[in-house]
Amino acid sequence: MQSLVIRRPDDWHLHVRDGAALTHTVAATAAVFARAIIMPNLKVPITTVIQAAAYKERILQACDSSMSFEPLMTLYLTDNTSVSEIYIAKASGLIHGCKLYPAGATTNSDSGVTSISHITKVLAAMAEVGLPLLVHGEVTDKHVDIFDREKTFIDLILNPLLEKIPSLRVVLEHITTRDAVNFVLSGSENLAATITPQHLLFNRNDMLAGGIRPHLYCLPILKRQIHQQALREVVASGHPRFFLGTDSAPHAKLTKESDCGCAGCYSAPVALPLYATIFEELNALDKLEAFASINGANWYGVPINEECVELTRRNFAVPTNLPFLDDAIVPLMAGCTLPWRLNDAHFIE
Ligand code: NCD
Ligand code: ZN
Repeated sequence: MQSLVIRRPDDWHLHVRDGAALTHTVAATAAVFARAIIMPNLKVPITTVIQAAAYKERILQACDSSMSFEPLMTLYLTDNTSVSEIYIAKASGLIHGCKLYPAGATTNSDSGVTSISHITKVLAAMAEVGLPLLVHGEVTDKHVDIFDREKTFIDLILNPLLEKIPSLRVVLEHITTRDAVNFVLSGSENLAATITPQHLLFNRNDMLAGGIRPHLYCLPILKRQIHQQALREVVASGHPRFFLGTDSAPHAKLTKESDCGCAGCYSAPVALPLYATIFEELNALDKLEAFASINGANWYGVPINEECVELTRRNFAVPTNLPFLDDAIVPLMAGCTLPWRLNDAHFIE
């Protein structure tokens, strides 16, 4: 196959940051994705609808006028989130989900939820109004090994929560384990998952054997090969409750190449060609469009995009770094050549 036309995709899990960073991050995403679920973990987290509306405006201002791009906003849950904010969020039409960061789990999660028991009423209200819960599924207990934190979260927190509130709609974000795949497969229509390119492409050996590669360090951390394999199998199966979420998480080069490096892979500039490369390796190119452009829209209940994008089989040399603020940023797959590239004249009507 030499060219591939699919409906314009959406990114169901994205970090664009704020301020001057937006000119870089929003352009990279809007060049291909029509919509993206915007993560609310700014330094001052987006906890209210008013903040989300202002943040959406800042994102749109960073968009080139030639691009049609719709940021789908989310709220950051804290121990103090009120039930009334959930009703306001639903009524606003602006908020597409509320994000659960267990406090301390990842970048800018210090204001996150310290115990799920603190948000019981908020979760019940979300179930009542049909607002999805987007979950960073890792426990934060220091005694739990970092490679076991997703499975432990599913067993101790998520499974009991869904038994208690089965009508709650949940996206288990950026899943990394066979356990998460099986949990979502055995769940109801209310349960879905996003999968990043790095978790399909790599396992912990890629990050740690023969040298430590800080640009592959993200959370939840890359796991063993058996888990990578389970993720690859489920996307190749075309299951409708698994969809594209890059978790593109920009951090400047020097903050990653450091004695205590930040977690996150900046995948937005390479995301679609990279997923295409992976699906082709899996002999599942025919499943790419559903994963990238249909399953997520169906699950969130929004229309499938009308436009299309075209990928061409032509070498795409990923730059070793890109400009970013007063530093540089190293994209995922920096210095590698991918067999697919996005056609310049995209967005075919
Ligand atoms: C994300 C970030 O940098 O905001 N980092 C990451 O490793 N994925 C936060 C997150 O999604 O965990
Ligand atoms: Zn993320």
